[in-house]
Amino acid sequence: MKCIAVLTSGGDAPGMNAAIRAVVRTAIAKGWEVFGVRYGFTGLISGAFFRLGARDVGGIIQQGGSMLGSARCPEFRTAEGQLKALSQLHEHRIEALVIIGGNGSQTGAHALSQSGFPVVGVASTIDNDLYGSDITIGADTALNVSLEAIDRLKVTATSHHRAFLVEVMGHKCGYLALMAAIAGGAEAVVIPEKEIDPEDVATDLRAAYDNGKSHAIVVVAEGARNNAETLSHYFQVHRERLGFELRVTKLGHVQRGGAPGSFDRLLGTRLGAAATELLARGESGKLVGLHKGEIAATPFSEVVANIKPLDLHLLKLARALAN
Ligand code: F6P
Repeated sequence: MKCIAVLTSGGDAPGMNAAIRAVVRTAIAKGWEVFGVRYGFTGLISGAFFRLGARDVGGIIQQGGSMLGSARCPEFRTAEGQLKALSQLHEHRIEALVIIGGNGSQTGAHALSQSGFPVVGVASTIDNDLYGSDITIGADTALNVSLEAIDRLKVTATSHHRAFLVEVMGHKCGYLALMAAIAGGAEAVVIPEKEIDPEDVATDLRAAYDNGKSHAIVVVAEGARNNAETLSHYFQVHRERLGFELRVTKLGHVQRGGAPGSFDRLLGTRLGAAATELLARGESGKLVGLHKGEIAATPFSEVVANIKPLDLHLLKLARALAN
């Protein structure tokens, strides 16, 4: 191996920069050349490669986002787009590619790898919904950002005896919402994996007041059928009967933009270094992630064929602790 490239794709995640830095520096230590690709698969298709030295990735470990830029690239889902990317890789004499990203990105990585090009994936998404890694780069920091918001909302909710809805990201996965509800001490939680009716949410929030609390917080996953819009509409329509109103805060991209905490810096670093180690051993076509605290490499075919399950025992715990 002499020359590899690295890109970040899909939604950015705090800790991606730590992974880029680890890929670059561990590869250079092996005597390899490293190229960065700008804006994910979009830059791969257009040939936006640039040389990366050890100093180019200095001072980025503490920064959120991706120094390479990231993108969602519908063109890469087409055979034509993938062919263009392959020809750019060959033209730039790249021998292997590291793709840092979540589900969509690893599906793209799988496609490229099936065409015979050596690709290794690094598990990164704030949603933590990627099969093959117990936890993905960015999820911990995004969770902490959500918690800070929930803690603050609880203060003002208590002052005013109010009920608040906090919608968190997560695409179709309830991981961030469930963990934020437990760690933030919410009175109710709504996730796509186990939908509940708006009236049940109202019952949970009413119970908080009946139990002597001066606030009531429900954390809602953006991917739930009863999301912020539907719940807020329901509570408006039934406001008089319910006896309280529901104020809505959508955290949205605020959760993605934070500086990575220690967990994501270390995870990004370990997974980035593991990606080059895998290539050095002549292995590819796999995603590197964390399994029971250890680095694990899972074949892309397995990653894309499986949905990571959410531990629904934790939902019971969230409910039990909310009384
Ligand atoms: O996958 C990360 C994520 O932030 C999801 O939680 C969210 O649904 C989506 O990306 C938003 O995507 P975009 O930034 O392209 O709007």
